[in-house]
Amino acid sequence: MKLETRPGRPLRGRIRVPGDKSVSHRALMFNGLGRGEARIEGLLDALDVKATATCMRRLGVHLARRGEATVVRGLGGALKEPTQVLDCGNSGTSMRLLAGLIAGQDLFAVLTGDASLNGRPMGRVADPLRAMGARIDAREGGTRPPLAIRGGGLVAGAYTSPVASAQVKSCLMLATLGAREGTLEFREPTRSRDHTERMLRAMGVVLEERGDALLLEAGQVPECRDVIVPGDVSSAAFFLVAAAITPGSDLVVENVGLNPTRSGVIDVLEAMGARIEVLDRRDASGEPVGDLRVLHSELKGARVEGDLIPRLVDEIPALAIAASFAQGESVFADAAEARVKECDRIAVTVSGLRTCGVEVEERPDGMVVQGGGFSGGSIEAHHDHRIAMAFAVAGCASGGVQVPDASAVATSFPSFSELLESCR
Ligand code: S3P
Repeated sequence: MKLETRPGRPLRGRIRVPGDKSVSHRALMFNGLGRGEARIEGLLDALDVKATATCMRRLGVHLARRGEATVVRGLGGALKEPTQVLDCGNSGTSMRLLAGLIAGQDLFAVLTGDASLNGRPMGRVADPLRAMGARIDAREGGTRPPLAIRGGGLVAGAYTSPVASAQVKSCLMLATLGAREGTLEFREPTRSRDHTERMLRAMGVVLEERGDALLLEAGQVPECRDVIVPGDVSSAAFFLVAAAITPGSDLVVENVGLNPTRSGVIDVLEAMGARIEVLDRRDASGEPVGDLRVLHSELKGARVEGDLIPRLVDEIPALAIAASFAQGESVFADAAEARVKECDRIAVTVSGLRTCGVEVEERPDGMVVQGGGFSGGSIEAHHDHRIAMAFAVAGCASGGVQVPDASAVATSFPSFSELLESCR
């Protein structure tokens, strides 16, 4: 699948982006583990979440479509040993969270993924799971998938993660739910997204925040709860950037999740001078939601660093595009984590920006983007959905952008291209 965006038309009207990917994975996993039955509305219909659904089925969970909703019948705390390898496709969230779920269970399972996922670091979850008592074998000294996990009999304890990562945190929380004894005392350098905490609390799981630690006692079974999945702010981000950089735009993106641990992209765009209004703030299953109106404006450079990074970790390519249309320099720092996503998003963003005529300096933990030079070009997406979509929207306000292989868009946002064309 190819993406091609030509300039000349503003973005106008009202659109809705698909359901939040992080919330969708969790709604399937936590309800699948839980006691009872739940309806999920607005579940993201994309490859990453389908991978989680297939894995949960292989672990014994019953999933069915009922109208627009997905109904999950939980296993009451005890998953079944799968007869097949569990294929997580391109999805890091599937692999890291399932690793924790499985480690907490008295069973053997193997997790694998595509070439990109099987090259990503798994020591960050495998090491603390081993410390809890799980037996995990993996490639490259036990750090890269496939992961062969023999779970059960775990003992939870204190763990300080060297990286701010909701995938690591959620993995260890799921392992703790199934653990025999102990209390997880989890710390990380900066607070990562908190969808797991919100959803598990709504499911009756007791967890406590004490200072910078998150405390969770072993051996709790969640009660299944209906979930209404908000629109994904990470998908909305491409439209916010597109409208902000394209003259004449006035776009409303409805029903976007505004969890403060995810909404750093809005803060940065506003700091760049974007005009964004939040309309009708409300709640959806414990997650804040609102409609976002965004108008074109002249942007200026910004600094994107420090505690902001975990709040926008997936939006670095989109924000780099915004920076390349801004006046002056933008600095991205403390963002080395972006190098271990679906691709090395710092290197690939830098090379894509250069292809399009932008002056940019690559740094180990980020980049420095000089605004104003984006002319357009043909971009290699490196099988990364967010790279493909970030560059595609840049075509709205430049000489045009082609992404010859944008098939990765199907992992999170299969309707991206139609939705973009529908509002311009
Ligand atoms: C996610 C957490 C983030 C993010 C990923 C989804 C999640 O990863 O990049 O797309 O749903 O927990 P890290 O926790 O590894 O930073």
